[in-house]
Amino acid sequence: IDISSFRSASEGYITLDPGYKNTGATTSAITFLDGEKGILRYRGYPIEQLAEQSNFIEVSYLLIYGSLPTAQELNDFSERISRHTLVNEDMRKILDGFPATAHPMGILSALVSSLTAFYPESLKSNQSQDEMDLSVIRLMAKMPTIAAWSYKNSIGHPVIYPKNKLDYASNFLNMMFSYPTEDYEVDPVVVDALNKLLILHADHEQNCSTSTVRLVGSAHASLYSSVSAGISALWGPLHGGANQAVIEMLEAIKADGGDSKKFIEKAKDKNDPFRLMGFGHRVYKNFDPRAKIIKKSADDVLAALGVKDPILDIAKELEEAALNDSYFVERKLYPNVDFYSGIIYRAIGIPTNMFTVMFALGRLPGWIAQWKEMRENKEPIGRPRQIYVGETERDYVAVEKR
Ligand code: ACO
Repeated sequence: IDISSFRSASEGYITLDPGYKNTGATTSAITFLDGEKGILRYRGYPIEQLAEQSNFIEVSYLLIYGSLPTAQELNDFSERISRHTLVNEDMRKILDGFPATAHPMGILSALVSSLTAFYPESLKSNQSQDEMDLSVIRLMAKMPTIAAWSYKNSIGHPVIYPKNKLDYASNFLNMMFSYPTEDYEVDPVVVDALNKLLILHADHEQNCSTSTVRLVGSAHASLYSSVSAGISALWGPLHGGANQAVIEMLEAIKADGGDSKKFIEKAKDKNDPFRLMGFGHRVYKNFDPRAKIIKKSADDVLAALGVKDPILDIAKELEEAALNDSYFVERKLYPNVDFYSGIIYRAIGIPTNMFTVMFALGRLPGWIAQWKEMRENKEPIGRPRQIYVGETERDYVAVEKR
């Protein structure tokens, strides 16, 4: 490599840090994370307290606006969201154009991006505070509708319209599980579990999808376009797609006779691309605090609903075996939030192809808060450099001479 390619024209030497393992892209006042100690706080509040005592709408307000709302602020925020849950009827025509085989994440990303067409004022790069707030409210309100409709499309059923007298989580569950012929009875255990899952996923500082949202937004792309890009990033199996991959892996272990040790050995084999899904994390190297909360929640929810799921037992066996295996111990590979989240989703009736959509619904306030912070701080356009390792100059050769 020519060392001169490490120099940037204006700012001295270029740092090469593939995967940005040690590079900060921004300052942020939203989420504090200590990977060594297993600490996660939103705006200073420990995740354990928020998961136990708050609800998703309150946590969304906290992330987006920086402090816990007063009763009046919470009521206004929640009411405004309720009033915007309907999506334009023309969006249903776009939805109708997707085949039933379309993955709901693809539909979600496309429909969120298409919000720019219905609300062109969101494209203004110098939105006032009120205009920005309206974009935020619309997105928070319409994502659950779009998400539930993407599921209805995948099973060939008519969509269910939002019911604004229901709270955020219940409204989503109702759009997922009601039929025109039969109403879904919202179970408080399920609502509580869903609130917990959404809170635990609500922000995680500069992860892949959030960095994507900030990077796209740094070009002054709209909130909707930026979040649509974040949804695409989240879809990847190394990021949000892991929760679906975990359940598929646990099912495969069950179908294979339930021998978790065999799969541990497979994950250790460097000639085998198989990885233990739901294990390992870029920043948590001792434990993932969200995984602790969610493991307990999985036990509670399954017991409250009277569900006996054999893959929960396989998951626990796998965790136990991995935690006693030097390969996993040396590499500090522990279960992450998604190791147990899929088990709860299954217990509350969410189909596997919707797991990553559930993650997106949870991450939405985080994406919004990060996008807003980036814009309010007037951050410059994101534009990483590179170290060029290709050919040096060469002359063009006509096609017949190659
Ligand atoms: N199973 C087996 N080995 C693993 C696993 C795993 N799940 N994860 C990491 N390793 C090994 C790697 O092979 C590597 O071994 P080596 O040093 O002998 O080469 C070592 O541990 C370090 O792994 P990296 O891939 O360098 O770690 P990185 O920080 O880049 O990746 C990641 C983190 C992507 C999460 C990884 O652990 C992984 O692929 N896990 C499975 C997928 C998953 O659960 N993703 C969800 C992430 S959490 C979220 O998005 C909410």
